[in-house]
Amino acid sequence: MGLATLYTRAVLGIAAPLVTVEVHLANGLPCFNIVGLPEMAVRESRDRVRAAIQNSLFEFPARKITVNLAPADLPKEGGRYDLAIALGLLAASGQIPDAKLAAYEFAGELALSGELRPIRGVLPLALQAARAGRQLVVPAASAAEAALVEGLAVLPAATLLQVTAFLHGEQTLTALQPVANDSPREADEGRDMVDVFGQHQARRALEIAAAGGHNLLFFGPPGTGKTMLASRMATILPPMNSAEAIESATVASISLHGFNVAKWRQRPFRAPHHSASAVALVGGGNPPRPGEVSLAHHGVLFLDELPEFDRKVLEVLREPLEAGRITIARAAHQAEFPARFQLIAAMNPCPCGYLGHPGGRCRCSGDTVARYRGRLSGPLLDRIDIQLEVPPVPQQQLLPDGSGEIPENSATVRLRVVLCRQRQEQRQGCTNAVLQGQQLEQFCTLARAERELLLLASERLGLSARAHQRIRKVARTIADLANCAEINTSHISEALSLRQFDRQL
Ligand SMILES: Nc1ncnc2c1ncn2[C@@H]1O[C@H](COP(=O)(O)OP(=O)(O)OP(=O)(O)O)[C@@H](O)[C@H]1O
Ligand SMILES: [Mg+2]
Repeated sequence: MGLATLYTRAVLGIAAPLVTVEVHLANGLPCFNIVGLPEMAVRESRDRVRAAIQNSLFEFPARKITVNLAPADLPKEGGRYDLAIALGLLAASGQIPDAKLAAYEFAGELALSGELRPIRGVLPLALQAARAGRQLVVPAASAAEAALVEGLAVLPAATLLQVTAFLHGEQTLTALQPVANDSPREADEGRDMVDVFGQHQARRALEIAAAGGHNLLFFGPPGTGKTMLASRMATILPPMNSAEAIESATVASISLHGFNVAKWRQRPFRAPHHSASAVALVGGGNPPRPGEVSLAHHGVLFLDELPEFDRKVLEVLREPLEAGRITIARAAHQAEFPARFQLIAAMNPCPCGYLGHPGGRCRCSGDTVARYRGRLSGPLLDRIDIQLEVPPVPQQQLLPDGSGEIPENSATVRLRVVLCRQRQEQRQGCTNAVLQGQQLEQFCTLARAERELLLLASERLGLSARAHQRIRKVARTIADLANCAEINTSHISEALSLRQFDRQL
């Protein structure tokens, strides 16, 4: 007696390193010291723990108390350690048994009354606890999120008293049943491809982008359905698998707003406004929090009115677009967040919006157009595999008289997308869009005629090596949609026809 050891976890980026809480009681002048947390966090935690213990009708030990949180360099959010510290104090002073403590991890912030408050980032913590083979005691309000992790016993508690009664063996904490993991849901919000009339090429481009995981840019005059089409992307994407779902939920879990369990298994669709700051978009702050690019992990990042975004903001997209993750450098340390998203962007071709419009309404000078487009750098455009003009729809297509065709609905399109993704998964274990190096050579081989066609077009259009590779990948996806083992010239020409922005300059 006099010493107790418990386990809990910190949250650093998307990792949750183990933290050992040691509580030591010694004879001497009564005091309460916490080592291993920044000063501010210590002061707050100390006061909460003391009040919670007293209000739960335990005795606060009038001894020289030392609490050590190891390792010492922990983030300043101290709330999550409250429960472990309080239990450590009670165990060290013999008020609860300490025999079983090592089988659990404890996380939770205490209210002065002894109630347990939810904490941020429960999911990364739960993942690690499951790996370590311990059970996890968390505030009831955080339990549903923790229970998303398979193979983990999550014990929800509403108060400190419930946890101590449990450790005394007087009360059970009922392990939460994991939510049904096999019921993927889509974030459609009533949107469906059936609403989009005409626009065959744009619909086809959206399907190809979904099927191969390609980035896509729609440009064209106002009101042609660019935003409408792009915001239906999530309705045709395949459902997420468990690993993807856990990864994207983990990122949301450590974000400012936390993870909404109702959105479990919904593919993220993030559409930040163009006034969004760089920090909001790519992440930052102290401690570093994920931005929109990471919240869109395994989903879609939709940037409407692309040139309206701050140029600096757009430039930082280059790293995640290539690497699938983002590094946030801070003076003290560096945080890395996953950011493998699909970029869907929309814009007008010029400031007035009507360049190329059949009505000839555009009044922009060559200079203004160039300046407008100059907001998008070459390297950024280079990373967008499909760049398609969305022209106005003929009026009669918009007011169908019942005799015309009914547009396909999202479910039908998604069926083809899912099949196409399965082909890619079986062949190479990833989507075509992320093929690189050796894999690209192996799976996107071109025969002579196809190679010549691509070379000729690349020369004429002045395409970069990267653009060249991206066209090959898009051609691979087009071939996969048609269930063709080889890429043929028609696939190459269609892929080339889906890269129009370069040509407009
Ligand atoms: N192809 C279409 N089929 C059905 N409705 C359409 C179509 N195109 C546009 N609309 C209608 O017009 C509205 C505006 O379309 P949308 O916002 O997608 O245009 P946009 O191309 O994004 O224009 P802007 O360049 O001004 O942003 C839609 O909400 C929809 O009601
Ligand atoms: Mg729009």
